[in-house]
Amino acid sequence: MAKITYIEHNGKSHEIEVKNGLSVMEGAVQNNIPGIDADCGGSCACATCHVYVDEKWFNKLPKKEAAEEDMLDMAFEPKKFSRLSCQILVDNSLDGLVVKMPSKQG
Ligand code: FES
Repeated sequence: MAKITYIEHNGKSHEIEVKNGLSVMEGAVQNNIPGIDADCGGSCACATCHVYVDEKWFNKLPKKEAAEEDMLDMAFEPKKFSRLSCQILVDNSLDGLVVKMPSKQG
């Protein structure tokens, strides 16, 4: 279980307890957090689960696979700390994670 803070692009923040084994995307979708659409259902094929990971957290996450890199290139306004939230699996080590959603997913 990890407490994850999802911040909408308008600054509204949502703190959610997400179960281990779910993705950061699934934690948002199951709790109706606006800003993570996840059109492809988590198969790394849509980039509508794009988030900006808090800088302090970025290097603590498992590295991106090539498929995620490729899909992020097509995401709206990718930045240095961009990730696809469907590719980040939750475990206890993510307790306190903070992610922000891009404006297009508002
Ligand atoms: S849900 Fe489609 S790429 Fe993450």
